Amino acid sequence: MERQYTRLDEARNLIDPLIKGIKDEESKRGAYVHLYGVGLLASLIALKRGCSRKIAELAEIAGMLHDLLTYVDRAEDTDDHAHKCADYAKEHVLKKLKSFTDEELDMIYFGIYNHSDKGIKGSRFDEIIKDADAAQHALRNPQENYFYQMPRVQQVLKELI
Ligand SMILES: [Fe+2]
Repeated sequence: MERQYTRLDEARNLIDPLIKGIKDEESKRGAYVHLYGVGLLASLIALKRGCSRKIAELAEIAGMLHDLLTYVDRAEDTDDHAHKCADYAKEHVLKKLKSFTDEELDMIYFGIYNHSDKGIKGSRFDEIIKDADAAQHALRNPQENYFYQMPRVQQVLKELI
């Protein structure tokens, strides 16, 4: 069976050149590890929660984009970074995607926009992105307590393991 070209490939074709263009090698490595890690976990969490594969695809894309600007421009790694990352994603990726509906693009945009509000319970989709973000930080270093002990992380791990 031939590998399908999916909407995710359309998104990746826009996202990858932005990551490849990051000059600083450490930032570039961090971008691949964290953004692809959060994308993968977001897809897994969405499916685990009974969402459709279409929603899992949107979650994967939101995960891949959620912090992209902070790796492209370290100066943007601020408290407000989620909002800036959402606007950057819209300008450089979401606006250019042809095969998604406006409603789907809004879901991705707000998933990115709200991902720092981890103390608030948001929409089902937003929570997938927040949980994937927190879980990726914890899972890349399971012996480190800072992320591992967060109630959000404990909750997600209970759900997944
Ligand atoms: Fe993140």
